Amino acid sequence: DVKINEWRGYRMWMGSSTETTKWAYEHWMPWKNDVIIAAYAKTGTTWVRNIVSHLIYRRNQQAMEMYKNLHAFLVYLETGTPIKFEVLDKLPWKRRILATHMPAQLLNMKRIKATGAKVICPIRNPKDQLVSWYNMAKKLPVPKNHKLVKSLYPRSWEEFLQVYTDGEQPLASKMGEWYPDYLLSWYKHKDDGNVHFVAYEDIKKDPSTEIRKIAEFLEVDITEEELDDVIFETSFSTMRRQSAHIEKKLDFYRKGEVGDWKNHLTVAQSEMIDAKIEEKLGHTDLKFTYEP
Ligand code: A3P
Repeated sequence: DVKINEWRGYRMWMGSSTETTKWAYEHWMPWKNDVIIAAYAKTGTTWVRNIVSHLIYRRNQQAMEMYKNLHAFLVYLETGTPIKFEVLDKLPWKRRILATHMPAQLLNMKRIKATGAKVICPIRNPKDQLVSWYNMAKKLPVPKNHKLVKSLYPRSWEEFLQVYTDGEQPLASKMGEWYPDYLLSWYKHKDDGNVHFVAYEDIKKDPSTEIRKIAEFLEVDITEEELDDVIFETSFSTMRRQSAHIEKKLDFYRKGEVGDWKNHLTVAQSEMIDAKIEEKLGHTDLKFTYEP
Protein backbone atom coordinates (compact mmCIF):
# COMPACT_ATOMS: atom_id res chain seq x y z
CA ASP A 1 0.00 0.00 0.00
CA VAL A 2 1.14 3.57 -0.58
CA LYS A 3 1.04 5.80 2.43
CA ILE A 4 2.64 9.09 3.30
CA ASN A 5 4.85 9.14 6.35
CA GLU A 6 5.17 12.37 8.29
CA TRP A 7 7.57 13.84 10.79
CA ARG A 8 7.00 17.22 12.45
CA GLY A 9 4.34 17.97 9.84
CA TYR A 10 6.71 17.29 6.93
CA ARG A 11 5.46 14.68 4.48
CA MET A 12 8.41 12.49 3.56
CA TRP A 13 9.38 11.88 -0.04
CA MET A 14 8.58 8.43 -1.34
CA GLY A 15 11.50 6.15 -0.54
CA SER A 16 12.76 8.11 2.46
CA SER A 17 12.30 6.97 6.03
CA THR A 18 10.82 8.93 8.90
CA GLU A 19 12.67 6.74 11.37
CA THR A 20 16.05 7.31 9.73
CA THR A 21 15.48 11.06 9.34
CA LYS A 22 14.58 11.34 13.00
CA TRP A 23 17.50 9.16 14.06
CA ALA A 24 19.93 11.28 12.05
CA TYR A 25 18.54 14.43 13.64
CA GLU A 26 18.82 13.11 17.17
CA HIS A 27 21.95 10.97 17.12
CA TRP A 28 24.04 11.13 13.99
CA MET A 29 27.50 12.52 14.58
CA PRO A 30 29.06 13.91 11.39
CA TRP A 31 32.82 13.81 10.87
CA LYS A 32 34.52 17.17 10.74
CA ASN A 33 35.45 16.74 7.09
CA ASP A 34 32.09 15.37 5.91
CA VAL A 35 30.50 17.01 2.89
CA ILE A 36 26.72 17.00 2.58
CA ILE A 37 25.14 17.85 -0.76
CA ALA A 38 21.75 19.33 0.09
CA ALA A 39 19.65 19.67 -3.04
CA TYR A 40 16.04 19.52 -4.06
CA ALA A 41 15.25 16.78 -6.57
CA LYS A 42 16.30 17.63 -10.14
CA THR A 43 18.43 20.63 -9.33
CA GLY A 44 21.79 19.02 -10.05
CA THR A 45 22.30 16.75 -7.04
CA THR A 46 24.02 14.03 -9.04
CA TRP A 47 26.16 16.49 -10.97
CA VAL A 48 27.47 18.24 -7.87
CA ARG A 49 27.97 14.92 -6.04
CA ASN A 50 30.05 13.79 -8.98
CA ILE A 51 32.07 17.02 -9.06
CA VAL A 52 32.77 16.74 -5.34
CA SER A 53 33.73 13.07 -5.60
CA HIS A 54 36.23 13.89 -8.36
CA LEU A 55 37.68 16.71 -6.29
CA ILE A 56 38.03 14.59 -3.18
CA TYR A 57 38.88 11.14 -4.51
CA ARG A 58 40.75 12.09 -7.68
CA ARG A 59 44.07 10.74 -6.39
CA ASN A 60 42.53 7.61 -4.91
CA GLN A 61 41.03 5.25 -7.46
CA GLN A 62 39.89 2.78 -4.79
CA ALA A 63 37.94 5.40 -2.85
CA MET A 64 36.41 6.63 -6.11
CA GLU A 65 35.25 3.12 -7.02
CA MET A 66 33.83 2.55 -3.57
CA TYR A 67 31.93 5.81 -3.65
CA LYS A 68 30.51 5.07 -7.09
CA ASN A 69 29.20 1.73 -5.90
CA LEU A 70 27.64 2.90 -2.65
CA HIS A 71 23.91 2.35 -2.53
CA ALA A 72 21.77 5.49 -2.36
CA PHE A 73 20.38 4.14 0.94
CA LEU A 74 23.78 4.82 2.46
CA VAL A 75 24.43 8.14 0.78
CA TYR A 76 21.14 9.95 1.42
CA LEU A 77 20.83 10.76 5.12
CA GLU A 78 17.10 10.08 5.17
CA THR A 79 17.03 6.69 3.44
CA GLY A 80 17.66 3.13 4.59
CA THR A 81 17.57 2.23 8.27
CA PRO A 82 19.41 3.87 11.19
CA ILE A 83 21.90 0.98 11.44
CA LYS A 84 23.50 2.38 8.28
CA PHE A 85 25.14 5.16 10.29
CA GLU A 86 27.33 2.48 11.89
CA VAL A 87 28.24 1.23 8.44
CA LEU A 88 29.05 4.77 7.31
CA ASP A 89 31.46 5.10 10.22
CA LYS A 90 33.26 1.87 9.36
CA LEU A 91 33.70 2.08 5.61
CA PRO A 92 37.31 2.59 4.58
CA TRP A 93 37.23 6.23 3.61
CA LYS A 94 38.88 9.32 5.02
CA ARG A 95 36.35 11.83 3.81
CA ARG A 96 32.68 11.21 3.16
CA ILE A 97 30.27 12.70 0.64
CA LEU A 98 26.66 12.41 1.74
CA ALA A 99 23.47 13.86 0.33
CA THR A 100 19.97 14.90 1.30
CA HIS A 101 16.73 16.17 -0.24
CA MET A 102 15.47 17.38 3.15
CA PRO A 103 14.75 21.00 4.04
CA ALA A 104 17.25 22.40 6.54
CA GLN A 105 14.75 22.19 9.42
CA LEU A 106 14.90 18.39 9.29
CA LEU A 107 18.67 18.27 9.67
CA ASN A 108 20.48 19.01 12.88
CA MET A 109 22.24 22.07 11.47
CA LYS A 110 23.68 23.09 14.84
CA ARG A 111 25.47 19.80 15.27
CA ILE A 112 26.57 19.72 11.64
CA LYS A 113 28.14 23.13 12.04
CA ALA A 114 29.66 22.35 15.44
CA THR A 115 31.49 19.31 14.04
CA GLY A 116 32.91 21.34 11.14
CA ALA A 117 31.08 19.40 8.41
CA LYS A 118 30.30 21.34 5.23
CA VAL A 119 27.13 21.65 3.21
CA ILE A 120 26.86 22.41 -0.50
CA CYS A 121 23.48 23.62 -1.78
CA PRO A 122 23.01 23.34 -5.54
CA ILE A 123 20.13 25.47 -6.78
CA ARG A 124 18.41 25.63 -10.16
CA ASN A 125 15.76 27.85 -11.70
CA PRO A 126 12.30 26.56 -10.72
CA LYS A 127 11.00 26.22 -14.27
CA ASP A 128 13.75 23.89 -15.46
CA GLN A 129 13.54 22.04 -12.14
CA LEU A 130 9.84 21.52 -12.64
CA VAL A 131 10.16 20.27 -16.21
CA SER A 132 12.93 17.91 -15.17
CA TRP A 133 10.89 16.63 -12.23
CA TYR A 134 7.79 16.14 -14.38
CA ASN A 135 9.74 14.04 -16.85
CA MET A 136 11.18 11.90 -14.09
CA ALA A 137 7.99 11.61 -12.01
CA LYS A 138 6.22 10.20 -15.07
CA LYS A 139 8.70 7.36 -15.18
CA LEU A 140 8.84 6.48 -11.50
CA PRO A 141 7.89 2.88 -10.89
CA VAL A 142 4.79 3.53 -8.77
CA PRO A 143 1.56 1.51 -8.73
CA LYS A 144 -0.27 3.26 -11.54
CA ASN A 145 -3.85 2.89 -10.47
CA HIS A 146 -3.55 3.73 -6.81
CA LYS A 147 -5.66 6.81 -6.11
CA LEU A 148 -2.96 8.48 -4.04
CA VAL A 149 -0.46 8.08 -6.83
CA LYS A 150 -2.95 9.30 -9.40
CA SER A 151 -3.68 12.44 -7.45
CA LEU A 152 -0.14 13.15 -6.22
CA TYR A 153 1.90 12.16 -9.26
CA PRO A 154 -0.51 12.83 -12.12
CA ARG A 155 0.62 11.82 -15.57
CA SER A 156 -0.92 14.76 -17.36
CA TRP A 157 1.18 17.92 -17.61
CA GLU A 158 -1.61 20.34 -16.63
CA GLU A 159 -2.63 18.34 -13.59
CA PHE A 160 0.95 17.83 -12.56
CA LEU A 161 1.69 21.53 -12.78
CA GLN A 162 -1.25 22.33 -10.53
CA VAL A 163 -0.68 19.61 -7.95
CA TYR A 164 3.05 20.29 -7.80
CA THR A 165 2.97 24.07 -7.52
CA ASP A 166 0.11 23.89 -5.01
CA GLY A 167 2.51 21.94 -2.81
CA GLU A 168 0.43 18.81 -2.62
CA GLN A 169 3.18 16.38 -3.47
CA PRO A 170 4.96 14.97 -0.44
CA LEU A 171 8.60 15.94 -1.03
CA ALA A 172 9.84 16.31 2.54
CA SER A 173 7.46 19.24 2.69
CA LYS A 174 4.49 20.49 4.63
CA MET A 175 1.17 20.56 2.81
CA GLY A 176 1.23 23.62 0.54
CA GLU A 177 5.03 23.75 0.30
CA TRP A 178 7.23 23.07 -2.72
CA TYR A 179 10.61 24.06 -4.15
CA PRO A 180 10.63 27.76 -3.09
CA ASP A 181 9.84 26.75 0.50
CA TYR A 182 12.70 24.28 0.41
CA LEU A 183 15.02 27.00 -0.91
CA LEU A 184 13.94 29.37 1.82
CA SER A 185 14.84 26.81 4.48
CA TRP A 186 18.42 26.63 3.19
CA TYR A 187 18.67 30.31 2.34
CA LYS A 188 18.45 31.01 6.06
CA HIS A 189 21.77 29.18 6.46
CA LYS A 190 23.65 30.79 3.60
CA ASP A 191 25.84 32.85 5.92
CA ASP A 192 26.49 30.10 8.45
CA GLY A 193 30.05 29.78 7.17
CA ASN A 194 29.85 26.05 6.48
CA VAL A 195 27.28 26.36 3.70
CA HIS A 196 28.07 27.02 0.02
CA PHE A 197 25.45 27.78 -2.64
CA VAL A 198 26.10 26.95 -6.28
CA ALA A 199 23.74 27.57 -9.18
CA TYR A 200 23.26 24.89 -11.84
CA GLU A 201 23.24 27.59 -14.52
CA ASP A 202 26.55 29.02 -13.29
CA ILE A 203 28.30 25.64 -13.46
CA LYS A 204 26.90 25.22 -16.96
CA LYS A 205 28.20 28.61 -18.04
CA ASP A 206 31.58 28.58 -16.34
CA PRO A 207 32.45 25.17 -14.88
CA SER A 208 36.03 26.12 -14.22
CA THR A 209 35.16 29.07 -11.94
CA GLU A 210 32.41 27.23 -10.07
CA ILE A 211 34.37 24.01 -9.59
CA ARG A 212 37.32 26.04 -8.33
CA LYS A 213 35.06 27.77 -5.82
CA ILE A 214 33.78 24.40 -4.61
CA ALA A 215 37.38 23.16 -4.29
CA GLU A 216 38.31 26.22 -2.24
CA PHE A 217 35.27 25.81 -0.04
CA LEU A 218 36.23 22.18 0.60
CA GLU A 219 39.89 23.12 1.09
CA VAL A 220 40.99 20.85 -1.70
CA ASP A 221 44.12 21.76 -3.66
CA ILE A 222 43.79 21.25 -7.35
CA THR A 223 46.12 21.85 -10.29
CA GLU A 224 45.01 23.34 -13.62
CA GLU A 225 45.37 19.95 -15.21
CA GLU A 226 43.29 18.23 -12.56
CA LEU A 227 40.63 20.89 -12.92
CA ASP A 228 40.42 20.20 -16.66
CA ASP A 229 40.05 16.51 -15.86
CA VAL A 230 37.23 17.14 -13.38
CA ILE A 231 35.43 19.31 -15.95
CA PHE A 232 35.70 16.57 -18.55
CA GLU A 233 34.70 13.75 -16.20
CA THR A 234 31.66 15.63 -14.91
CA SER A 235 30.41 17.00 -18.22
CA PHE A 236 26.92 16.04 -19.28
CA SER A 237 28.13 13.88 -22.15
CA THR A 238 30.62 11.94 -20.03
CA MET A 239 28.15 11.38 -17.22
CA ARG A 240 25.45 10.33 -19.63
CA ARG A 241 27.80 7.92 -21.40
CA GLN A 242 28.77 6.32 -18.08
CA SER A 243 25.24 6.12 -16.66
CA ALA A 244 24.00 2.94 -15.04
CA HIS A 245 21.11 0.80 -16.30
CA ILE A 246 18.53 2.21 -13.89
CA GLU A 247 19.58 5.75 -14.78
CA LYS A 248 19.09 4.97 -18.46
CA LYS A 249 15.63 3.60 -17.75
CA LEU A 250 14.60 6.77 -15.94
CA ASP A 251 16.26 8.93 -18.59
CA PHE A 252 18.25 10.41 -15.73
CA TYR A 253 20.58 12.41 -17.94
CA ARG A 254 17.74 13.79 -19.99
CA LYS A 255 18.85 17.10 -21.50
CA GLY A 256 21.11 18.85 -19.05
CA GLU A 257 20.32 22.31 -20.38
CA VAL A 258 19.26 25.74 -19.23
CA GLY A 259 15.96 26.98 -20.65
CA ASP A 260 14.29 23.71 -21.68
CA TRP A 261 11.21 25.02 -19.83
CA LYS A 262 10.45 27.11 -22.89
CA ASN A 263 9.61 23.94 -24.76
CA HIS A 264 7.03 22.96 -22.14
CA LEU A 265 5.45 25.96 -20.44
CA THR A 266 2.88 28.19 -22.07
CA VAL A 267 3.23 31.91 -21.42
CA ALA A 268 0.33 31.75 -18.95
CA GLN A 269 1.90 28.79 -17.10
CA SER A 270 5.24 30.55 -16.97
CA GLU A 271 3.62 33.67 -15.53
CA MET A 272 1.74 31.58 -12.99
CA ILE A 273 5.06 30.20 -11.75
CA ASP A 274 6.69 33.65 -11.73
CA ALA A 275 3.86 34.88 -9.51
CA LYS A 276 4.11 31.95 -7.11
CA ILE A 277 7.88 32.28 -6.84
CA GLU A 278 7.65 36.03 -6.31
CA GLU A 279 5.13 35.49 -3.54
CA LYS A 280 7.39 33.06 -1.68
CA LEU A 281 10.87 34.41 -2.46
CA GLY A 282 10.31 38.03 -3.45
CA HIS A 283 11.62 39.29 -0.12
CA THR A 284 14.97 37.52 -0.53
CA ASP A 285 17.86 38.24 -2.89
CA LEU A 286 17.59 34.77 -4.40
CA LYS A 287 17.54 35.30 -8.16
CA PHE A 288 17.40 32.66 -10.87
CA THR A 289 18.88 32.36 -14.33
CA TYR A 290 16.24 31.27 -16.79
CA GLU A 291 18.15 31.80 -20.03
CA PRO A 292 21.20 29.89 -21.26
P1 A3P B 1 17.23 17.56 -17.01
O1 A3P B 1 16.07 16.65 -16.70
O2 A3P B 1 16.77 18.97 -17.25
O3 A3P B 1 18.06 17.04 -18.13
P2 A3P B 1 19.27 15.64 -9.97
O4 A3P B 1 20.58 14.93 -10.04
O5 A3P B 1 19.18 16.61 -8.85
O6 A3P B 1 18.13 14.66 -9.97
O7 A3P B 1 19.13 16.54 -11.28
C1 A3P B 1 18.92 15.96 -12.55
C2 A3P B 1 19.08 17.02 -13.63
O8 A3P B 1 20.47 17.38 -13.72
C3 A3P B 1 18.67 16.50 -15.01
O9 A3P B 1 18.16 17.63 -15.71
C4 A3P B 1 20.02 16.03 -15.55
O10 A3P B 1 20.08 15.90 -16.94
C5 A3P B 1 20.92 17.16 -15.05
N1 A3P B 1 22.34 16.79 -15.05
C6 A3P B 1 22.93 15.70 -14.53
N2 A3P B 1 24.24 15.70 -14.76
C7 A3P B 1 24.51 16.83 -15.46
C8 A3P B 1 25.70 17.40 -16.01
N3 A3P B 1 26.89 16.80 -15.91
N4 A3P B 1 25.59 18.59 -16.66
C9 A3P B 1 24.40 19.20 -16.79
N5 A3P B 1 23.24 18.71 -16.30
C10 A3P B 1 23.30 17.53 -15.64
